[in-house]
Amino acid sequence: MMRKAIVIGVLSVSVFAGVYTRADRVKDMQTMAQAMNDIESGFFFNDKQKVIKGALKLSDTIRHVRPPLEDKEEKNPMMRYMNEKVKFSNKIVKKIDRKAETIIERFQDGDVSEALQAYKKIMSSCMECHAKIRKW
Ligand code: HEC
Repeated sequence: MMRKAIVIGVLSVSVFAGVYTRADRVKDMQTMAQAMNDIESGFFFNDKQKVIKGALKLSDTIRHVRPPLEDKEEKNPMMRYMNEKVKFSNKIVKKIDRKAETIIERFQDGDVSEALQAYKKIMSSCMECHAKIRKW
């Protein structure tokens, strides 16, 4: 009885938190690099579908990005949310997600220059995170 309760407890915690490993993150990073290439070539070829597809892929993927499980577990669960890495990641993830939306909206409106601005901001956010936490 006791054991069953513990197993259920552990399962629900891992489902809730989502098990995100370093390997998952590397895979997401590669997907995002591809998405950025698609957006860029969509700009060059004025291919709306390609821009939108790339931005949606980017948005889908960036939402998963967080410090991997190994990093999160170095502190107890309450401290985890105070963890600087988690806070920093969440902030930058939200920013990239918002800008991906801007790309879609602006490009659809024919405002290429605003779409390009948003693309550049995403690019700097990628690099900002890399400069700060790539070695974490
Ligand atoms: C929240 C922080 C963060 C953000 C935001 C971020 N990255 Fe990364 N990125 C990392 C970390 C950390 C690594 C090192 C991966 C590892 O070894 O775990 C990495 C590695 C990579 C790699 C190399 C993957 C490999 O095969 O080794 C690529 C490519 C990459 N990022 C692309 C991007 C792109 C494109 C963006 C923006 C759309 C982006 N990253 C945004 C943290 C971030």
